[in-house]
Amino acid sequence: MTDLTLDDARRRDAADPLAPLRDRFVLPDGIYLDGNSLGALPRDTASALAEVVQRQWGEDLIASWNRHDWIGQPQRLGARIAPLVGAKPHEVIVADTTSTNLFKLIGAACAARPGRATILSEPGNFPTDLYVAEGAARMFGDRRLKTVAADDLVAAIDGDVALVLLTHVHYKSGRKLDMAAITAAAHEKGALILWDLSHSTGAVAVDLNGCDADLAVGCGYKYLNGGPGAPAFLFVAERLQEKLRSPLSGWMGHDAPFAFDDAYAPAPGIARFLCGTPSVLGMAALEQGLATVDGVDPAALFAKASALGAYYIRLMDARCGDAGFTLASPRVDAARGAHVSHAHDQAYPICQALIARGVVGDFRAPDMLRMGFAPLYTRFADVWYAVEVICDVIATRAWDDPAFLTKARVT
Ligand SMILES: Cc1ncc(COP(=O)(O)O)c(C=O)c1O
Repeated sequence: MTDLTLDDARRRDAADPLAPLRDRFVLPDGIYLDGNSLGALPRDTASALAEVVQRQWGEDLIASWNRHDWIGQPQRLGARIAPLVGAKPHEVIVADTTSTNLFKLIGAACAARPGRATILSEPGNFPTDLYVAEGAARMFGDRRLKTVAADDLVAAIDGDVALVLLTHVHYKSGRKLDMAAITAAAHEKGALILWDLSHSTGAVAVDLNGCDADLAVGCGYKYLNGGPGAPAFLFVAERLQEKLRSPLSGWMGHDAPFAFDDAYAPAPGIARFLCGTPSVLGMAALEQGLATVDGVDPAALFAKASALGAYYIRLMDARCGDAGFTLASPRVDAARGAHVSHAHDQAYPICQALIARGVVGDFRAPDMLRMGFAPLYTRFADVWYAVEVICDVIATRAWDDPAFLTKARVT
C-alpha cells in the first residue's frame, strides 16, 4: 500500500490542476469535509457584501434596483448556473429555497398532466422532497405520492404517473442515478421528470438538456458556496416554459410587475417561476459563490471529487477495515456523487469526536458518517489526515465520551 502514504497524497495534490482554486476561499484550520452541507466562504464574499450593504443599499438605496441591476439578479445568476447543469442561460433562474421551488414545479407539473394521479419518488429521498410532494399531491387534485426503491423505479412508471421526482445524487448514500435512462423511461410513459440537483451542482457534471430533462431544482449553499440559506435555483426546459404555470403566482413572475394590474398574466419564459422580491443580499453572496466555479469545467470538478472519494474509500478500507464501518456509498466512481458515507453503530459520537479534533464531516441519522469532497478546495492530503484522525479516534476510543452523545439541533 505504498501509494497510500502522506507523500503520495501530496504528490496527488501537486499534480491536481484544480489545486490553485483553493485560494479562492477562506478556510479555517482543520479539515473541512462538509462542503456538501455548507460550502466554504469565498475570499471575495465579505467585501462584495460590504459594497452591496454600504454603498448600494446605504447610499444608492432604491435606485439600486436599476443602477446595480438588483432586479436582474435572478436571471443573471441563473445564467451563470446554466453551464454547470447542461442548460441554456434562459432555462435557469435563481429564487426562493429548494423546497419552495419544488412546490412550484410539482404544482406546475401536476396541472400539466391532468388525469394522472401519481407523483413517483423513492423512499428515503431527501425529506423536503417527500414532504413537499405529499403536500402538493393533496393540494393539486386528488393525487398521491408513491415511493418505489430506485432499482425498481423504472418498472413502476406507468400511465398514471404525472411526475417522477428524484434526487440525482442521494443525500445520504451519495448514489448517483442514471439521469438519461430514467428520464427516457418517464417520457416513454408520458410522465414529466423533476431532478433535485442539490448534491450535484458544482461538484458533479450534469447534462439536463443532453438527458432531455424537464424540470430541476438545486441548492445555492452547498457546492455553489452561496452561504447559509443562499437562494436556490430552478430549471424548466425551454420547450415547456410556455406550457407550465407556477402555483405561486406572485408579482415578480408577472408579465409586467410594474404595471400593477389586478389580473395575473405570467411572464414569458423562465421569469414566470419567480414569486416575490429577490433576496438581494443572499443573491449578492451567491454571486461570489458562483464566481468560485467560473471557468471551471464541470467534468474536471467531478473527476476530482470522484478521485478524492475513491481515495477516501481506499484509505478507509486499508486503515479502518476492521473498525465496524460499512461502506454505504457506491464503490464505482461513475455511480457515486461527491460524498461518501459509512454506516457505523457509533457514527454520531465518532462524528462529534472528529469535529472536536478539527475534522468536520457530518452525521446523518440513523447511523451514517458522511464526508463531502468539495473539489474546489479539498486536498488529497486533507483526506489522508482525516482518515488518520478517524483511525486514532477509533484506536483510542475517543468517541466513547458522554460529551459526544448529546445531539445538537443541527447534526
Ligand atoms: C436533496 C436536497 N434537497 C433539498 C435540500 C434543502 O432544501 P432547502 O434549501 O429548501 O432547505 C437539501 C438539503 O440538504 C437536499 O439535500
